Amino acid sequence: MISSVLPTYNRAPLAFVKGAGSWLETADGTRYLDLGAGIAVNALGHAAPVLVEALTEQAHKVWHVSNLYQIPEQQKLADALVEKTFADTVFFTNSGTEACELAVKMARKYWYEKGAPERVEIITFRGAFHGRSSAAIAAAGSEKMVKGFGPVLPGFVHVDWLDLEAVKAAVSEKTCAIMLEPVQGEGGIRPAPDAFLTALKQISDETGTLLIFDEVQCGMGRTGRLFAHEWSGVTPDIMMVAKGIGGGFPLGAVLATEAAAAGMTAGTHGSTYGGNPLGCAVGAKVMEIVAEPEFLAAVNAKGGFLRQRLEGLVAAHPEIFEEVRGVGLMLGLKCRLAPGELVAAGYAERLLTVAAADNVLRILPALTITEEEMAEAVSRLDAAATALETHLA
Ligand SMILES: Cc1ncc(COP(=O)(O)O)c(C=O)c1O
Repeated sequence: MISSVLPTYNRAPLAFVKGAGSWLETADGTRYLDLGAGIAVNALGHAAPVLVEALTEQAHKVWHVSNLYQIPEQQKLADALVEKTFADTVFFTNSGTEACELAVKMARKYWYEKGAPERVEIITFRGAFHGRSSAAIAAAGSEKMVKGFGPVLPGFVHVDWLDLEAVKAAVSEKTCAIMLEPVQGEGGIRPAPDAFLTALKQISDETGTLLIFDEVQCGMGRTGRLFAHEWSGVTPDIMMVAKGIGGGFPLGAVLATEAAAAGMTAGTHGSTYGGNPLGCAVGAKVMEIVAEPEFLAAVNAKGGFLRQRLEGLVAAHPEIFEEVRGVGLMLGLKCRLAPGELVAAGYAERLLTVAAADNVLRILPALTITEEEMAEAVSRLDAAATALETHLA
């Protein structure tokens, strides 16, 4: 008999009843050290007091009013995002998938308004993940994502990750945009080198093709810059944001330049809940904290510390691990066995990690994790790896 919750997830037999910072607790009081942060969502840790305060303060005022009216909290967050990024304008969503939907619509509308309605094709990359809507699965294009969900939304051209020649060959008079994650997350923590992003920008400049960055997972301070693309100096025309921006409250956004957003006039897009006062009050507080240079410098320092410890772990367990990948606190351990085995061995050590494609174990802690907690996490990973080695022997 089907479970009352649609069984689309492979859930671990774990239920958490409360959390604080980098720790989660089950009903019997067992504490788990969380290196997943809700898959890069709880940027400031669980139940961060500043966010609890921002949320409850807003909850006492007004929860929902509809975008029929001005929403000051939305305005505040949009202003902060515009001030700190390449963008001139922001649309708020409730998730990364919805941000993907709008990014696709916006790019196509841009060309339609420019009198080139045939420019609808978006070049995307194998290993990408942009969400689970019809557009997002078509964008990713893998058989695993689209099988059985046809007809697949047309207009996406897929090329291999980091294959510049394939991108050049794919660009045509029908190309509308190139869309990518500056650091692929679900695909296995695979950063795009600066030179690759620079080359894409050049193609974009030469052909007018819009550049869309999906920073749903790698944005909001995760890599040690407010947005990951800042490392390369290459700015997109459109950017998708979600996860960390709400610190655990469902919130997403599409940021764009004025030119790229030109087609999105009144009535062309909307969302009942997108940009609601609760989400934006929390988002504004997250932004206030994460955008501070000292906070981002601390993420970098933590990333360096954790990476060094993880390199030691790889050296100590060459049969289990191959290498460390990633940027800042968006790290991955390439494994020699299925990463799911490490995730399970981690549970036995009261440690939470997340598997990704390409045999990678994702390490995406709260950006507020301490050095002691990182050291403790690595020692638990060490124990998990040792347990697996014993099993292998
Ligand atoms: C890069 C990227 N884009 C889009 C999404 C979809 O976001 P959501 O699950 O909030 O719809 C995700 C989610 O994992 C993601 O990692």
